Amino acid sequence: MKLIFLGPPGAGKGTLAAKAVEILGVPHISTGAIFRAAIAAKSPLGLKVKAIIDSGKLVDDGTTIELVKERLAQADAIKGYILDGFPRTIPQAEALAAFSKVEKVVNFDIPDISVVERLSGRLVCRACGTNFHALFQKPKKAGVCDACGGELYTREDDRQEAITKRLDVYRAQTAPLIDFYRAKGILADVDAQPAVDEVVAGFKAVMGLS
Ligand code: AP5
Ligand code: MG
Repeated sequence: MKLIFLGPPGAGKGTLAAKAVEILGVPHISTGAIFRAAIAAKSPLGLKVKAIIDSGKLVDDGTTIELVKERLAQADAIKGYILDGFPRTIPQAEALAAFSKVEKVVNFDIPDISVVERLSGRLVCRACGTNFHALFQKPKKAGVCDACGGELYTREDDRQEAITKRLDVYRAQTAPLIDFYRAKGILADVDAQPAVDEVVAGFKAVMGLS
């Protein structure tokens, strides 16, 4: 299954993708996670994108499209994938259509107020990337990842100014993709507001898996 997870920052795309990987058996490909790994490694890509990402703006289309094209050419992604955070602009969606045939787009719907609540309390494992939340998904031991024991940290772009910027960028550049994919008849909406288990149930329902 070739799947896109669409939705505003903090909608829960990464959290749901971790569950969906177990259900569908395809890799989770997050452009944000690839960029953050490059930043942590201080690679040329990481040095190029760090300031852009920290401020909440988008990395340029050319860099991002090339990265995804290379990733989708790897063996594990031939049969299917969950693309989380890509495409994020109409030019990215058009470029993707030229090198891969997306079967379904799941649009995670959530109001801004919940986005701010989720992002301002998010904690991420530095080692394995698992998401936690200071109130909604507390780790068993403060500051420590339940999955691998890694250190939990707050993303640079989860500061208030960057959250506001990311929401503006989402509305201007990414939200138009909802109509773009709806017009192709492959978009399904999922209410991302309830607790994780309920969102998983909503996802399974639109995938015809429940
Ligand atoms: P990216 O990493 O993709 O960030 P994003 O789209 O802003 O989304 P997030 O990762 O912030 O949120 P999420 O929807 O995954 O929510 P999560 O599951 O973590 O991109 C980062 C940056 O990289 C971009 O700003 C841009 O600069 C650059 N970039 C990436 N892709 C790009 C592209 N294609 N083009 C150009 N630039 C690009 O959940 C959030 C929190 O809520 C967590 O704490 C979680 O525990 C909690 N939570 C989740 N679900 C629930 C629930 N149901 N109930 C309660 N709490 C929940
Ligand atoms: Mg994410």
